[in-house]
Amino acid sequence: MMQNQMVEKFIEIYGGESSTVSQYFAPGRVNLIGEHIDYNGGFVFPCALDFGTYAVARKRNDSTVRFATLNFDLKVEVDINDISYLEEHNWTNYPKGVIKEFLNKGHNIGGFDILYYGNIPNGSGLSSSASLEVLTAVVLNDLFDCKEDMIEMVKMSQKAENQFVGVNCGIMDQFACGMGKSNHAILLDCETLDYKYTPLKLDGYKIVIGNTKKRRGLADSKYNERRSECQYALECLQKELDINNLCDLDMDTFDKHKSLIDKDIARDRAKHAVAENVRVKKAVEALGGGDIITFGKLMNESHDSLRDLYEVTGIELDTMVEEARKIEGTIGARMTGAGFGGCTVSIVKEESVDIFIEEVGKKYEARVNLKPEFYVANVGNGPGKIN
Ligand code: GLA
Repeated sequence: MMQNQMVEKFIEIYGGESSTVSQYFAPGRVNLIGEHIDYNGGFVFPCALDFGTYAVARKRNDSTVRFATLNFDLKVEVDINDISYLEEHNWTNYPKGVIKEFLNKGHNIGGFDILYYGNIPNGSGLSSSASLEVLTAVVLNDLFDCKEDMIEMVKMSQKAENQFVGVNCGIMDQFACGMGKSNHAILLDCETLDYKYTPLKLDGYKIVIGNTKKRRGLADSKYNERRSECQYALECLQKELDINNLCDLDMDTFDKHKSLIDKDIARDRAKHAVAENVRVKKAVEALGGGDIITFGKLMNESHDSLRDLYEVTGIELDTMVEEARKIEGTIGARMTGAGFGGCTVSIVKEESVDIFIEEVGKKYEARVNLKPEFYVANVGNGPGKIN
């Protein structure tokens, strides 16, 4: 898009001169492997996409903040001294949460007008909310000269979502949106926030994202439920083991002590977390050695574990993954993000991509009765000003 159109729209809504506005972008993300372990102190391996959220913004001389977007009709006006969560303020609660974080840190934030536009399909598990949060942080940092570094803004964005919006997410999404690098995935240790960029050497292969179009209805409550099941498992293990997180364990130690977890469901959740963390390390090693086939196998194992042990897939994601794996040229397919709907990610031979999209699309629609969408992903850069 569409940057000129955005500026035109901004002027139409808020008035003034186009020379006085600034423009910004923050990407969405796709996670390649390492699911539901960011909040268990594990390793994740996401990358930023080349689509995301755009903003045009301009400071005001008073304390009014005005929000608008090209995606929805809702417009909201608030006073910077009265930022609170309001159900009817809908999507603007995300940026409001970020503003609150900046205010909590003592930054002198004044009024401003802002217009957003996002091209991440909503609720698709490609982090439209993290993209919106990180983007807002980048805008505030620039407009009000706050001098926060990107990792700090990543943490502030996560805090906004946890404390203001009330979704208990881990750090992965905001980190991937904030720290993305073109043609690289990020190996992130979610316990220490140490990270390493890994070149995505996918010679002859493409990352294909499949949107199941299944709305993630109960996602947030189920998500929080999984988190407490993991917490329960951890507390059981801590009776004998000196660990801070489930992902501190290797598979052998887990197997030796798993009987400490006295609930079957919690034991399964913990087993997924420990095994998934091991898979991420193996997958990144395989990729580094140019062994993309092993990488794909580990993606498959990841999905199967999320389906059988963690139970966050559902008929739509499972069907799409099943159909994806039937295509010759698919070397791995799994769900990505929180699950319960949203997107799958597959690694597909370049020459098979067209047939993949056609066949998986047809079969999925016939079985599930939803019309899916597919995106061949390009791995993009992190956020910034785009004037
Ligand atoms: C959502 C959360 C992330 C992460 C994933 C699952 O995207 O926002 O923090 O937990 O689910 O891996």
